[in-house]
Amino acid sequence: MWRASVLTILPDVFPGPLGASLAGKAMAAGTWSLDVVDIRTFAADKHRTVDDTPAGGGPGMVMKADVLGRAIDAAETDERPRLLLSPRGAPLTQARVETLAAGVGVVLICGRFEGVDERVIAARALEEVSIGDYVLSGGEIAAMALIDACVRLLPGVMGTAASSAEESFAEGLLEYPQYTKPQLWEGRPIPEVLTSGDHSRIAAWRRAEAERLTRERRPDLWAAYLRRFRSGSRTG
Ligand SMILES: C[S@@+](CC[C@H](N)C(=O)[O-])C[C@H]1O[C@@H](n2cnc3c(N)ncnc32)[C@H](O)[C@@H]1O
Repeated sequence: MWRASVLTILPDVFPGPLGASLAGKAMAAGTWSLDVVDIRTFAADKHRTVDDTPAGGGPGMVMKADVLGRAIDAAETDERPRLLLSPRGAPLTQARVETLAAGVGVVLICGRFEGVDERVIAARALEEVSIGDYVLSGGEIAAMALIDACVRLLPGVMGTAASSAEESFAEGLLEYPQYTKPQLWEGRPIPEVLTSGDHSRIAAWRRAEAERLTRERRPDLWAAYLRRFRSGSRTG
């Protein structure tokens, strides 16, 4: 079973959307498990304080190393990667998600306030992971995003094995446009090729559209795709 442990000061927000749809069904089926650790239970004072003012001054509060250190130490130690959700972290990619999903699970630490005392990051060898170049109020939504991206790749969770093989990023390209019935909607038809029944034409159209969208919207992905294509490999 793939295991996710989440350390947070807001345990009540979990499982949230992870309890619904594909992820929720997979959790109920025992494909993965979620345990949520309330960091506040590791505070030493009666107010259950988890934060203090930043050394050197400045706005906001910082999560205390001693409290967070105890919470991490109490979480079961195994070979799972310990990831701190952080806007300073390495951007989460589909390739990293695939690696995490292929492993035994993750231990996720959710920051709040201005972030986490740097010493606990170093002392507990936390790897910082970002879900994008913007700042959230806390790591909980980021943790949910990471878990959701992993869980849908676990064996048996998605309806058909092909779904993830053709998705955005699977080959370094964004996904081609999708359509469904009705054939004509507000004067807009489904592209003729998709209703032709000619599978090789459909595949060629989808590949061309995926390339066009990637070129137009994500020059970074497009450049990487071209590099791989020229070096003889479209995947990886
Ligand atoms: C308000 S943010 C702290 C931002 C920090 N002061 C900075 O400028 O880098 C509070 C917490 O939200 C989480 N967080 C915010 N943005 C994130 C992102 N893009 N990816 C992952 N976690 C994020 C982190 O856990 C962070 O410690």
